[in-house]
Amino acid sequence: MQNFEFFNPVNIVFGQGQIKKLSHLVPTGTKIMLAYGGGSIFKNGVYDQVKAALPGLDLIEFGGIEPNPRYETLMKAVEIVKNEKIGFILAVGGGSVLDGVKFIAAAALWEEGDPWNFLTNRKLVVTKAIPLGSVMTLPATGSEMNGNSVVTRLSTQEKLAFNANAVLPLFSILDPTVVYSLPEKQVANGVVDAFVHVMEQYLTYPVDSPIQDRFAESILVTLIEEGPKVLANRSDYDAAANFMWAATMALNGLIGVGVPQDWATHTIGHELTAFHDIDHARTLAIVLPGIMQVKKESKREKLLQYGERVWGVREGTVNERIQHTIQKTVTFFESFGIPTKLSAYNIGADFIPVVCQRFTDRGIKGIGEKGDLTIEQIAEVLTLQL
Ligand code: NZQ
Ligand code: ZN
Repeated sequence: MQNFEFFNPVNIVFGQGQIKKLSHLVPTGTKIMLAYGGGSIFKNGVYDQVKAALPGLDLIEFGGIEPNPRYETLMKAVEIVKNEKIGFILAVGGGSVLDGVKFIAAAALWEEGDPWNFLTNRKLVVTKAIPLGSVMTLPATGSEMNGNSVVTRLSTQEKLAFNANAVLPLFSILDPTVVYSLPEKQVANGVVDAFVHVMEQYLTYPVDSPIQDRFAESILVTLIEEGPKVLANRSDYDAAANFMWAATMALNGLIGVGVPQDWATHTIGHELTAFHDIDHARTLAIVLPGIMQVKKESKREKLLQYGERVWGVREGTVNERIQHTIQKTVTFFESFGIPTKLSAYNIGADFIPVVCQRFTDRGIKGIGEKGDLTIEQIAEVLTLQL
């Protein structure tokens, strides 16, 4: 196992009826910004519950944070936070709202020019942010218990991430009943996003880390078992609860400590969203099967372990088992109505050099756990998925 530090102070408040605890969790004596997305919280009663839990507080609302939150929108909130001297930001929504709030919180205290720079320049570190908390309404990203934020800039068609302990939420309220109002598409997206988060931290090469491996496998199996139940019956509380906790555990850092991590699927997937506005999870369902194929040699041992322990694939030659395992993964994604080929999203071969050029322009030579998925291989991955 590799050396590691694990720091995760987020207070998770989990279960039905927990939104009312906001009254104890949100700091008093400071001005609060309540940030939300396109309005789902007004339809499913979450907004009313939040407001009921926060009577008499000095509160400003900022709505309209889009899926794949936009820098252009978030900068408007940054102005308000500065002008109104906001001391705490409460995100009420999905991963996009929370990621947006993390950016707003960091950008409001950023003193070194355009905050976009801390997304483009990995050497710039965010050390300060306005304190924030969340009421999560969509199990998917794990943003509720990590320091990641992904922001899209429309003017340059870029989608970039930053990570900082300073933007870890003080608390996140996870009430599984929020799942009841999710459209089918968002449930499917959530299951696949969480699944691929686990794969990015698991499907690499062995470093003798049985705890991390078995935690990872348990999350994958849980998503395989509970995902279809949630899709079939949105009001199945237990299935919703298990799905929600699985999504959090998939990306709160725990399974990724001491092991190599890949993240090539996400890195390429973000370009598909940046150029073609494809939902985040769908981009992952396209890219991951291609990476499994192109990197089947360097990922061989973990591919076989994953196939055997998660899908029960034990028969055949090594290559047959690997192909069967990749097929199982594709079938799982497609069973949620998520196509895994670019053609299903009307994207043709002409897009591949555009993506490759972007990596070349950024000076990137290789990505993945060994940094050896080259630009040529990125093209190969996408070509396989045409
Ligand atoms: O905007 P509203 O009206 O709230 O509607 C949203 C949005 O249209 C809706 N929704 C959310 N909760 C709902 C609901 N509709 C009905 N009932 C509810 N309870 O769902 C739509 C999608 O919401 P969004 O927040 O965009 O989805 P998600 O949570 O999947 O977040 C995706 C974003 O997270 C980033 C992605 O790149 C993408 O920008 N990621 C963040 C990560 C992180 N912070 O660690 C990791 C991920 O890999 C990912 O990259
Ligand atoms: Zn993701």
